[in-house]
Amino acid sequence: MTVADVVYLPEEPAYDHEIELINEEAFGPGRFARAAQKIREGGPHDRALSFVALFHGTVVGSVRLTPIAAGAGRGLLLGPLAVRPAHKNVGIGRRLMRIALDAAREAGWGVVVLVGDEPYYGPLGFVRVPYGQLAMPRPVDPERLLAHEIAPRALAAMQGAVVHANLAEAAA
Ligand SMILES: CC(C)(COP(=O)(O)OP(=O)(O)OC[C@H]1O[C@@H](n2cnc3c(N)ncnc32)[C@H](O)[C@@H]1OP(=O)(O)O)[C@@H](O)C(=O)NCCC(=O)NCCS
Repeated sequence: MTVADVVYLPEEPAYDHEIELINEEAFGPGRFARAAQKIREGGPHDRALSFVALFHGTVVGSVRLTPIAAGAGRGLLLGPLAVRPAHKNVGIGRRLMRIALDAAREAGWGVVVLVGDEPYYGPLGFVRVPYGQLAMPRPVDPERLLAHEIAPRALAAMQGAVVHANLAEAAA
């Protein structure tokens, strides 16, 4: 394959099954026990801010963004990000990340949070969340709780328990 054969599109329901298979392949059954997954169970991801990479019409990569709340702050949770093994290391993951971050910025969001490896996400503008600022619903290695701030002080506004934004609105 060449990278020129890969196209990037906003997510649609028709891709759901293929995306599920990719995430199963990438994360296995343990994906359901992850802290981020617990948040995602609180409501839907934002399809307008979620993207697929297609190679000859087949989904080979996926990234999703989900609205979250922590205290008075609002932001997005990024993930899962996954690329099929046969298509790794040609830049699809980074391109999906940049497309999703650009879409978040254009939609007016101030911060994107994720749980992941700093060596991968650091060059994409993610830094560690200050220790103790955010409480995830399941244990997370604090070195892997990262944020990409789009608007100044958007991360500082997020304090305490992280939940799906719909749950915060319902409780207000
Ligand atoms: C992580 C993942 C999405 C990267 O996708 P990709 O399309 O292969 O990534 P890219 O081609 O944009 O980047 C590849 C580079 O990132 C590096 N990289 C990949 N995973 C990494 C990690 N976890 N930590 C640090 N570097 C990583 C590769 O070694 C490669 O480095 P190079 O450019 O110096 O050769 C993909 O490997 C994957 O689906 N992994 C399984 C699921 C997963 O771990 N998702 C992330 C959750 S935190």
